[in-house]
Amino acid sequence: TRIAILISGRGSNMRSLIAACAEPGFPATIALVLSNKEDAPGLIYAREAGLQAIAIPHKPYGKDRETHERAVNKALTGAGVEFVCLAGYMRLLTPYFTDSWAGRMINIHPSLLPLFPGTHTHERALEAGLRIHGCTVHHVTAGMDEGPVIAQAAVPVFPQTDTPDILAARVLAQEHILYPAALRHVLSGEQPEDSPRNTSAALIV
Ligand code: GRF
Repeated sequence: TRIAILISGRGSNMRSLIAACAEPGFPATIALVLSNKEDAPGLIYAREAGLQAIAIPHKPYGKDRETHERAVNKALTGAGVEFVCLAGYMRLLTPYFTDSWAGRMINIHPSLLPLFPGTHTHERALEAGLRIHGCTVHHVTAGMDEGPVIAQAAVPVFPQTDTPDILAARVLAQEHILYPAALRHVLSGEQPEDSPRNTSAALIV
């Protein structure tokens, strides 16, 4: 399956997907990396990896989200993209775009959805006093961070010593494992396995 990865910044999840796609037998190839920011560090990495990587800045479009998305869609279809992975793409999407890719677009979010949609998830998890936090890969629908969950990974929270940055790094390490695994699962159409690796439980006191 020809995929696009949409980014806005550093692109560490993009890097984990690039690495996965380079593995023999992985069911995706990267047709395009696209950023809404020209100075996204992830674009440089993607180009150095030999991928087609372009920016379509949203700024010139002002508040007209849909016209920007039409330009993005043109680039996606032009590159023969069949499936879209959002990886730190910091744009609210209109129904035009989510409808265009319904069932063919996934996102990674740094919380255990449906907890903490939106931004500042690690601060909010700490403020809420949670002892377990994590990340979610989900299908993208019109509601922000609301689509059906595909896969999740959990990490412990250490309230005495964690800061949002420390917690974010612990979650991010799991994101890099979870996203390629979830993409493989979605594209291969396999059901989740009831295997021991999927039955670990966390008890954090
Ligand atoms: C990740 O935490 C991701 O879950 C969120 O934005 C961050 C992007 O990081 N949507 P990166 O650009 O993949 O390094």
